[in-house]
Amino acid sequence: MIAVLGSINMDLVVSVPRFPSPGETLHGSEVGYYCGGKGANQAVAAARLGADVRLFGKVGDDAFGDRLLDGLRSHRVDVDAVECESGCATGLASIWVNDAGENAIVLAAGANDRVDDAYVECRGAAIRAASILLLQLEIPIKTIAHMLLRLPRNKMTVILDPAPACDLSVLPLDRIDILTPNEHELRLISGKESLEEGAFDLLDRGAKHVVCTMGHAGAVWFSSDGTMAHFSAPEVAVVDTTAAGDAFNGALAWALQTRSLEDAIAYGVRAGALATTKRGAQESLPTLHAIEALA
Ligand code: RIB
Repeated sequence: MIAVLGSINMDLVVSVPRFPSPGETLHGSEVGYYCGGKGANQAVAAARLGADVRLFGKVGDDAFGDRLLDGLRSHRVDVDAVECESGCATGLASIWVNDAGENAIVLAAGANDRVDDAYVECRGAAIRAASILLLQLEIPIKTIAHMLLRLPRNKMTVILDPAPACDLSVLPLDRIDILTPNEHELRLISGKESLEEGAFDLLDRGAKHVVCTMGHAGAVWFSSDGTMAHFSAPEVAVVDTTAAGDAFNGALAWALQTRSLEDAIAYGVRAGALATTKRGAQESLPTLHAIEALA
């Protein structure tokens, strides 16, 4: 079983010709509400490929929360442990997508911010029952640190997608098997301009592997044993890059259940590329058939 501890958001997506400057009003088009949140997206990405997935997190007691949970159930994600916070809004991501398919996101965490130490204490046994744990940074980082310190050593594979990037100094990085930043996040969390130096800095701080995703340039895998390998991405027609990283992480976790890390990264790269060919987050996540057809 794969456990995902993370965020659940409603994504309000507006197409824009370009991103506005401060003080500028711009005409957008194509407004859409999509099910999103990095935690929920990664859970759906793995479930679409056939994994047994349990999601841990919180929604608010509003219509968005109900809609998001229904959407997750329709993708066969087990949401029995997701709690509804009364008097609280569900997480909302306001997303602009420009003509090049790039996005800019403003996040209002809502109930995601209520995923606290008490929640993971209560759900800890169920989370520890998984063989793989997927984490991101859209719930409080303090909660992630609390969870990591309560995990048995060497009994489960822990993947952290450090997005959105922030200071990781509160996290015990030696409890993380695979860190999956994109290039921008790797520079921010390591403070190094060179990707290689940044990755080896994180490995020195305890992570066992760093897989840096690089969009159309694929991904690079750095390992604490000195391994370094590049994975190229297939060429696709990009519509919207939202959730490409989530597709990567979900596919990586799914593949790691039965395959080597090298093979799992190759699946992740292809899943990420396919996710950019459709608009929206969970709607854009590929099937196994689509990934294997791209090989
Ligand atoms: O990774 C994409 C996700 O980031 C979106 O679905 C949005 O909710 C933001 O959290």
